[in-house]
Amino acid sequence: MRRFALKRVRCLFLTVAAFAAAGAYAETRETEVYLDSGWKFARFWNNESPKDDASAEPKGGCAAPSYDTSSWRTVRLPHDWGVEKPFRMDIPGMLGHLGFYGIGWYKTDITLSADECALIAKGGRLYLDFDGAMSLSTVYLNGKDLGMRPFGFISFRVDATDALVPGPRQHLAVRLENRMWSSRWYHGGGLYRRVRRVVVPKVHVDNWGIVVRSEVKGRNAEVTVDVAVRGGEGEVEGTIYDGARAVAKLEKGRATIPDVRLWDVDDPHRYMLEVRVSSNGETDTCRELFGVRTVEFRPKEGLFLNGRHIKFQGVCMHSDCGALGVAAYARVFERQVQLLKEMGCNAIRTTHNPASPEMLEACDKYGMMVLDEPFDMWVIPKGGPNAYSKYFKEWWKKDLTDFIRRDRNRPSVVLWSVGNEVNEQEKPEIGLPIASNLVATCHLEDPTRPVTMGNNRIGAWTNGYVQVVDVYGVNYKSDFYGDFYKLHPDKGLLGTETESLLSTRDAYYFPEDDDWASLERPNFRGFYDWQASSYEKYTIRPSNTSPEVEFKAQRKYPQCYGSFVWTGFDYIGEPSPYEGRFQTWHRASSPEMAAEMSRFRESYGTNATPPRSSYYGIFDLCGFPKDRYWCYKAEWRPDVPVAHILPHWTWPGREGKTTPIYVYTNGDSAELFVNGKSYGLRWKDESLRLAWLNVPYSPGTVKVVVRKGGAVWATAERRTAGAVNKLEVVGDAASLRSLQDIAYVRIALKDKNGTVVPNADVDLNFSAEGAVELIGLCNGDPADLTGFQEGHQRTFHGLCQAVVRAREGAHGPGALTITGGGLSGRISFTVPKNE
Ligand code: GAL
Repeated sequence: MRRFALKRVRCLFLTVAAFAAAGAYAETRETEVYLDSGWKFARFWNNESPKDDASAEPKGGCAAPSYDTSSWRTVRLPHDWGVEKPFRMDIPGMLGHLGFYGIGWYKTDITLSADECALIAKGGRLYLDFDGAMSLSTVYLNGKDLGMRPFGFISFRVDATDALVPGPRQHLAVRLENRMWSSRWYHGGGLYRRVRRVVVPKVHVDNWGIVVRSEVKGRNAEVTVDVAVRGGEGEVEGTIYDGARAVAKLEKGRATIPDVRLWDVDDPHRYMLEVRVSSNGETDTCRELFGVRTVEFRPKEGLFLNGRHIKFQGVCMHSDCGALGVAAYARVFERQVQLLKEMGCNAIRTTHNPASPEMLEACDKYGMMVLDEPFDMWVIPKGGPNAYSKYFKEWWKKDLTDFIRRDRNRPSVVLWSVGNEVNEQEKPEIGLPIASNLVATCHLEDPTRPVTMGNNRIGAWTNGYVQVVDVYGVNYKSDFYGDFYKLHPDKGLLGTETESLLSTRDAYYFPEDDDWASLERPNFRGFYDWQASSYEKYTIRPSNTSPEVEFKAQRKYPQCYGSFVWTGFDYIGEPSPYEGRFQTWHRASSPEMAAEMSRFRESYGTNATPPRSSYYGIFDLCGFPKDRYWCYKAEWRPDVPVAHILPHWTWPGREGKTTPIYVYTNGDSAELFVNGKSYGLRWKDESLRLAWLNVPYSPGTVKVVVRKGGAVWATAERRTAGAVNKLEVVGDAASLRSLQDIAYVRIALKDKNGTVVPNADVDLNFSAEGAVELIGLCNGDPADLTGFQEGHQRTFHGLCQAVVRAREGAHGPGALTITGGGLSGRISFTVPKNE
């Protein structure tokens, strides 16, 4: 039985000011330059993509430096071309109804400095690093083809040195192509992550060439550093810093950190390793942040972080960023991680592809464990014949190796996954040799972390997969954890994907407990207006469960390493249960509703379904919490008083009608009051939700008083909203310090007492002025087909969101003005001059 005791490390960029604008790469150098601005961009259709207003690609492509791009647009990275256009019903909702197909060209000039030219003249190299390029990318320098990389999520490096022309000016072009039938959710299109260039001396640290490992010995940590040097032999030196203070020097690749401060989810402390490789009077200096921690997967006892028993309180996360599509600004992931941490989440599974370096940086920095997963499929396709499986045989080794090398120093990464619900699960004759190769490659590149995969087929329990992976991962099988342990008493287990509830923020349907749904085994048949009730008892498959079922299983099996909810945030595409044509099980509860439903359907065309984003998230597409947020917080943060009432209490027309009330809490008991009248006490059992099912609606105030151990533990209140009186506009940053900074703005319709008005939505117009520009609008309604960049957005149950960034070349004040429904609001920003 393999037992993994990990002591690892990782690094990122620096605390010093010179690196403030740096990205989230593994190694950083002072000499690297991010190519964020000044790209010319044009989009063309390909043979199979819907022909929108793009044109055919010019014969021979656009790589030549002389190619006339004067009519092309100028764009800034990160850039996702898929979210720029309106939603289109001829592109399936599964893919977000967005046109991310076709061909895109990006072109820019690079001007090398005199120092860089001199370095190159002495044998130095010019590298181009792509964090991700969607997809089938070909990179050209000065018209020379530098090679193709199919996988849109992989980070990769291109050596451009041999394509350099004399002089400082060089011309870079990137061709990308997204084919139809290549995915089962929204992947986006374009240079949606950052690109950098780096000139290094002839002898230099290789890409992702630093490996930092550490072992905790008493109060100290023994650190081992391997440095892969390229271009010849060099002298390697290294120093470890704690903040600005040098704490250890490398001697023959080893160092001891005295009184080590461990990286933990509660205290994500990192050290910085500076590596210097010198040869012939030149030095390549690389810096990495890293952390020291121990992670142990003990099959019979559970998961231990720094010797402490812990479970993955995890969520699965797709790569998209709401209204920004997949455009990977660091703030997106920082915000996601902060919101998730606040809920008590301590782990993220990167479903089902390599995440952005910015996401991993946020996990390292804020203390979030990562189950790092590169693939959704192997050789048998999912999502269509042009999906990654087409390239798997040729590319898996390179992609997996690069993926691990990029991420293997990160303290947040504790476990690798080699695939999700691959179609080879019940075809062991095809799948087992692949799985063995994948696992062996992971072990070779990183012998310190175990390897798992997410399996949803019970058949895979007995056909060899259990023996191939180090830790077994099951999707949606909480009822069977006991069976698994009986069959495989020595194997560690985790719920790689669990729950999968569907809900729309603040949408409630009555009766709440109809004959299709039950808490134990919810099932869902769809509502006529394309929403899912926030009573949160609904899912699409019988194997999916409510959180209560998963929590119970986790309590029963402390040795189970924990679970990952599907999903933390709503994402674009896969709008189950409305992903395909109009499903017959969508039901209306009365003839009137049936008629309304038919009218509604007809307005979209016979087989079209409007939803464009998923209903799975604990947070909606804007990152606004749904009711479920408090269910998880109550369970995952038992020491923090939680009391949350649902539904909202603004129901004109329901006076006197039964309006069930649920409360999520982590107290022992709760008493509910409506307008001062008690509806009685409920005691907390394992169900997590306390329910008062027979409350007649009457406008006013609902209040709950929760007690724990006899004392008041938490209270919550919901008030009936009056007429809309104002727009509340709140931003999460007043200053945009760099071109990569963004600010989220939350707009709420409020009555005069400050209560959000959930039933009087208005269409709002947004205009940005001065030094800021608007880059996205969203309201969290999965069925809203207003384009993310149309400049107007309807509130949804009282809320919507705008995202702004600094306008290039501008500084000083900027503002966002919002008007609509007779209301107006404004928020100001500043863009400092130095960036
Ligand atoms: C799982 C799958 C996820 C997502 C989910 C929706 O089976 O692994 O990617 O599709 O279903 O319920």
